[in-house]
Amino acid sequence: MAIIETKDLTKVFGKLIAVDHVSFAVEEGEIFGFLGPNGAGKTTTINMLTTLMNPTEGSAKVAGFDIVKDANKVRSLIGLVPQDLTVDEDLTGMENMMLQAMLYHVPKDVAKKRIEEVLRLVELEDAANRKVETYSGGMRKRLELAEGLIHYPKILFLDEPTLGLDVQTRTVIWDYIKKLKEERGMTIFMTTHYMEEADALCNRIAIIDYGKIRALGKPKELKDGIGGDVIELALFDNSKDFSEAIAKMPYVIDVKRKSETYKIKVAKGEEALPNIIEGILKMNLKVSTVSLIKPTLDQVYLEYTGRSLRENEGNREEVMRMMRNIRRARQ
Ligand SMILES: Nc1ncnc2c1ncn2[C@@H]1O[C@H](COP(=O)(O)OP(=O)(O)O)[C@@H](O)[C@H]1O
Ligand SMILES: [Mg+2]
Repeated sequence: MAIIETKDLTKVFGKLIAVDHVSFAVEEGEIFGFLGPNGAGKTTTINMLTTLMNPTEGSAKVAGFDIVKDANKVRSLIGLVPQDLTVDEDLTGMENMMLQAMLYHVPKDVAKKRIEEVLRLVELEDAANRKVETYSGGMRKRLELAEGLIHYPKILFLDEPTLGLDVQTRTVIWDYIKKLKEERGMTIFMTTHYMEEADALCNRIAIIDYGKIRALGKPKELKDGIGGDVIELALFDNSKDFSEAIAKMPYVIDVKRKSETYKIKVAKGEEALPNIIEGILKMNLKVSTVSLIKPTLDQVYLEYTGRSLRENEGNREEVMRMMRNIRRARQ
């Protein structure tokens, strides 16, 4: 069953169409990712779905409720962990959580137990009484995650949950996100511009660029969709070019020989590989090295947007945010 459903969802800022007639459905219990570069329209989409901003055109339902007409109902069922830092540095983790509980009208007697529980979930119980200014970047993000969970939301929105964190800390956050889905059956809508993150976490991904969805599917489907795996193979006998013979083998789409390596484009890599090796042995040749290379989401992204996602990293927005945080920390 679709728990989020949008129809031609659109947001216009002046002359800029930030989100352009976007239609998609998120199934209950899945992790759904919006993958795209900065300025693609990810945060704007989250802002509309979480009722912080009204659409210019189109509509969306979240847990069965209209984001404009039933905004209050929607708000009570969702949790949001925004892109920017939201915790108060001068307060302890516990105090931040108590504020959040008050904001969401969690009754006092329930709040204490819940705070303990969600802090335990993100393993911050030992740091709960320390001021947030002593926390690492990863600990702050975990506290923000805990804040988003205080009212037991049905759906959690995560806007770039690991932006600016180092790779190791990032994988720790991934584990918490997976736990929420697996142990609590929570539906998660997240945005990211990290390919590995979308690949590691999301059941399905929409690639968004210039406000439009360019591709949507399971990571594997998207990868398969761009046409085939590549087998890289070298032979002991380099006296001749065997490309033509290899090209005639089953599953083979295309063969290129570059120096002494054959790059063989194939359908269904796992099935093709043993067949090709067998074919080569039958020709009385010996394989010296072989590897199967699967397409990456990077390639998928390039295919659908015509540019590499990597070009967008280390951008101005991220630098500005870091500057803001540094300034805030110094005050
Ligand atoms: N409040 C706003 N006013 C004007 N333009 C905005 C506003 N918010 C976002 N934009 C613009 O809309 C586009 C999409 O922004 P955003 O949704 O934040 O992208 P993302 O989260 O994918 O980086 C960008 O070009 C951005 O500059
Ligand atoms: Mg954003």
